[in-house]
Amino acid sequence: MKVIVRENYDEISKLCAQIIASKVKEKPDLILGLATGSTPIGTYKELVKMHKEEKLDFSQIKTFNLDEYVGMNKDNPNSYYYFMMENLFKWINIDLKNVNIPDGKALDLTKEVEEYENKLEKSGGVDVQLLGIGGNGHIAFNEPGQYLNAKTSVVELTEDTITANSRFFNSLEDVPRKAISMGIGSILRSKEIILLASGKSKSKALFEFLTKDRVTTYLPVSFLHLHSNVTVICDKDAYSLV
Ligand code: GLP
Repeated sequence: MKVIVRENYDEISKLCAQIIASKVKEKPDLILGLATGSTPIGTYKELVKMHKEEKLDFSQIKTFNLDEYVGMNKDNPNSYYYFMMENLFKWINIDLKNVNIPDGKALDLTKEVEEYENKLEKSGGVDVQLLGIGGNGHIAFNEPGQYLNAKTSVVELTEDTITANSRFFNSLEDVPRKAISMGIGSILRSKEIILLASGKSKSKALFEFLTKDRVTTYLPVSFLHLHSNVTVICDKDAYSLV
């Protein structure tokens, strides 16, 4: 595993965007796995800038997002669909037919998760998966607990995550209790993974992950130890306990 530590959020965002941009140039029909949350926003801003200034071409790129809240309409500002549109897709020349985000409003959620996993498999697999990390060590919405799902599934969010994500909602009660999330197996099938972490709130999870050579369902990010091509890009605050 490669660990890159940079001074601050701006620097990790620029570096991550440069890495993604170079992959996009190398392989114009790259399959990108994308994440939401506040951490990748800087990376997306940089990619938009590269599209505007250097004509970085996304026309053949395919994307798969990690997760979506259950019950959330696409036009709800808290949906991950809306987030992706506002922070990236609206500003680049991506073909929306090539965009895949789980449908949190699907009437049949069992069918939705099965179809999402199948689509992922049929695509030939994600080339580069961008990941954030929850303060509790979750990746996507794979929460710490007795077990983790291997495939895309409907998951219950933990109180930690509901509290952490409530900052985007009017009140704690408004935060959905469930989400659709790619499973740990779905994530580990990506050819390459970039984990981004910024700020002190991620330092404990990063410490547990980077300093302990073990895999536990109580720290979902630790499953990245099983992958052979992971790059962790973090700022000094996130790395401060390592
Ligand atoms: C959410 C998302 C994760 C994300 C995490 C961290 O719960 N499902 O994919 O990595 O939160 O978010 P942030 O980057 O805002 O700290």
